[in-house]
This record gives sequence, C-alpha cells and structure tokens, in this order.
Amino acid sequence: MRILAIETSCDETAIAILACTGDEKSAQFRVLGNALLSQIEIHKPYGGVFPSLAKREHAKNLVPILEAALEEAELLREDAQIIPEETRANISEMLAREPGLAEAFFEFLSECEPPAIDAIAVTTGPGLEPALWVGINFAKALALLWKKPLVAVNHMEGHILAALAQNAQRDTSPSRGVTLCVQRVTLPVLALLISGGHTELVLMKEWLQYELIGRTRDDAVGEAFDKVARMLGLPYPGGPEISKLAEERRDRATRKRVGTVSERAEEERVEALVKLPRPMLHENSCDFSFAGLKTAVLYLLKENPNMSEDEKTHVALEFENAVTEVLWKKTARALEETGAHTLVIGGGVSANAHIRRVFTDSIHHEHAGVELRIPPADLTTDNAIMIALAGFYRAQRKEFTTDIAANGNLSLAKNP
Ligand code: KG4
Ligand code: ZN
Repeated sequence: MRILAIETSCDETAIAILACTGDEKSAQFRVLGNALLSQIEIHKPYGGVFPSLAKREHAKNLVPILEAALEEAELLREDAQIIPEETRANISEMLAREPGLAEAFFEFLSECEPPAIDAIAVTTGPGLEPALWVGINFAKALALLWKKPLVAVNHMEGHILAALAQNAQRDTSPSRGVTLCVQRVTLPVLALLISGGHTELVLMKEWLQYELIGRTRDDAVGEAFDKVARMLGLPYPGGPEISKLAEERRDRATRKRVGTVSERAEEERVEALVKLPRPMLHENSCDFSFAGLKTAVLYLLKENPNMSEDEKTHVALEFENAVTEVLWKKTARALEETGAHTLVIGGGVSANAHIRRVFTDSIHHEHAGVELRIPPADLTTDNAIMIALAGFYRAQRKEFTTDIAANGNLSLAKNP
C-alpha cells in the first residue's frame, strides 16, 4: 500500500510518500519521497510559532512540497487533466480560506496525472488549529481530485510509531530509499512523549490503544526549554540552543573538576550559585510540572543580574539536568507501575543528546529487561514519514473518512 502523508500541525510543512507492506506484527516502510520545509527562520523574530503566519506559510508551501515529494518518488507524470466543473467548484470552496492556494493547486494539478498511491493520510491534531486546517483542506482536495481514500492521523501516534520504527542504518536520514521496519514490538509499550506542546506518559497495552499514565500539569517540556532559552537570550527554538550550551558546559565542568585548585574552587562556586529544583520528583504520581522550574530560572536570573557568560551557560546545564532527572525518574516509576516491556521516547525534545544518553544508560542499569527505542534524529522532530506510518495502520483497519476536522487538543488516551 502506498501512502501519501501530509503534516502541517505546527511550523513544518511536510509531505512523504511511503510504500508500506506487512501487518501489525511486522511492517516495512520504504521511503519513496520525503519533502519538508521548516518555517523556523520565519518564526524566529517572534520567539515562537505565530499561528497566522504558520497557516500562511503552509498554504504557500504545500504545492511546491507536494511536487518535490512526487518528483522524488518518481510519481510525477505530466499530462493535461480534465477536471470536471463540479469537482473544480468543490475544491475551490475547500481551499477558499487560503489566499492563492486554489490557484496554485489547479495550476500544478491540472498538469499531472493522479499518482499511483492508495490513500492520503493527514494530521488532524493535536497542534495549532489554523495550521492543521490548511493541511486537512489540502488533503481533502487531493482526495477528491484523485479519488483516493483519506485517513485522519493523530500526530502523537505518529511520534510513537516513528520511535518504534527501526532502520538498518540507524543513523541514516530517513530519505529516499531507506526502509524502516516496525517489528518485534513487545507490548505493553510505554511512550514518553516530549514536544513543544506535550509532555505525557502513555501506555499502549494493545496495539494502537492508549492509556494515559502521566502528563504535565502546566508547561510542556519543550515549551519550558523554549522559555528558558528566551530568558538566557537564546533564539527560538530554544531546545537545541540550550542543549548545545549545556553540552559545552558539561565538558568544561569535567575538565575544571580535574583542573587546578582554583579551577575546582571556581567550579564549586558556580555550581552552588546555580541550583534548580526537580519539581514533583518525590510526589506519588507519574505527572510532571515544569512551570516552577521555569520560574526558578527567572528568579535566579533576576537575583543575579550580573551573571557571567560562564554562569549563564551553567544555568542551561543545570536546567537540562533538572528536566532530564525528572523525566527519567517519572518514566522509571511508570515502568515499574505498568510492567511495560518496551519504552519509547518521541517528540521534538527526544532529539536532546543528554536525555538520550541518560535514558540509554539508566535503562541499561536500572531496567535491563526493558527494550528502549529512540527514533533516529531526523524522525524525532515533526515530519510526514511518521504520519505515513500511522496512516498505514489506520488505513489497514479501513478507518477511512471524508469528514475530517482539526482538533488542536486531540488526545491519544483517556485518563483511566
Ligand atoms: O515535536 P516537535 O518538533 O513539535 C511539536 O509538536 O511541538 O517539538 C518541538 C520542540 C520545541 O520546543 C524544541 O525546542 C524542542 O522540541 N527541541 C528540543 C531539541 N530539539 C528540539 N528540546 C531539547 N533539546 C533538543 N535538542
Ligand atoms: Zn511533534
């Protein structure tokens, strides 16, 4: 089955085409085409994603991204198409809210044959609703024009499946020609989902059925990274920036600790100055809270307005350490409570090198019987390959629909 998947939930416009075979026990996915355009540079001046701008950019980018994905997949066949008046009118109405999109759509699609795909998958939530709607309307228009069935995909399910997927060359970018496999998954799977909008622990006891085990009571972890980065004067998105600073500071601290007496004393002084809390670490639940940690950084910076660059980099390090410690301890608690056999971490924050390292080491030392799967770096942040993975399983279950709506708060699981 060939799936064309569309992702526009946040600030990435992405379309991927995958050839999918197998079943829920063992499935293989060959990437035929994968086109992605990040809007990070556009949102940078605003210090975060600006929804109306994201929506406008998706509308501008979808047709070129579709063309790039089809071309890469060698599915682009130029041939003038006759589009019936009624279809044209329906599509024009579907795309009417995005200025210029209908024109670009017809200009490109009236010149190319319907591609050899079997279904179209599109993210319907969670995410920014105005952004989600652009992708949904575009998917509906394509489905109508090409007479293909549509499947609605939960973005977080995409993150979980991307984390479960493995590829032969673990560190190769999932580009054209790469085959991903989802197989030998031992249930139950515990998923720690950490992104800009989410922080939750979800249990998959049965394939694609979820139960919520823990969640943040306030900020998402990615949001905390981004806000703390802003306090430290770092650009958006803050996660990778904090990670880079923290990694450098970690190396420096190691060198100083084995350095001269004065270097050691200086290191101890900085460490004593920059101490941050580990919120809810000892509380009897698998829930998280990051707002207090963020506020602690704010006060620390206010109380020490003349912090040196070295002290500030230590704030990045201590913040990353605090987040990682809480994430691991809560995940370890959830592993014990649920008896999960597989652990996955997914979502943009799982690109973080320190989190990956701590999880890899800790699982080995504390839960050696649990298999940890972390997605390859390119699959951690938002992309359309993960939407195609979820789309495949949903299409196999014949969960086709024509009535799709965006749901910014779409949830995977209900609280037990
Ligand atoms: O999953 P994602 O790409 O988009 C959402 O669905 O939110 O996650 C984006 C989030 C941002 O908050 C970004 O700062 C964070 O992931 N992020 C990171 C890293 N790379 C991205 N956070 C910490 N360390 C990273 N290396
Ligand atoms: Zn995401």
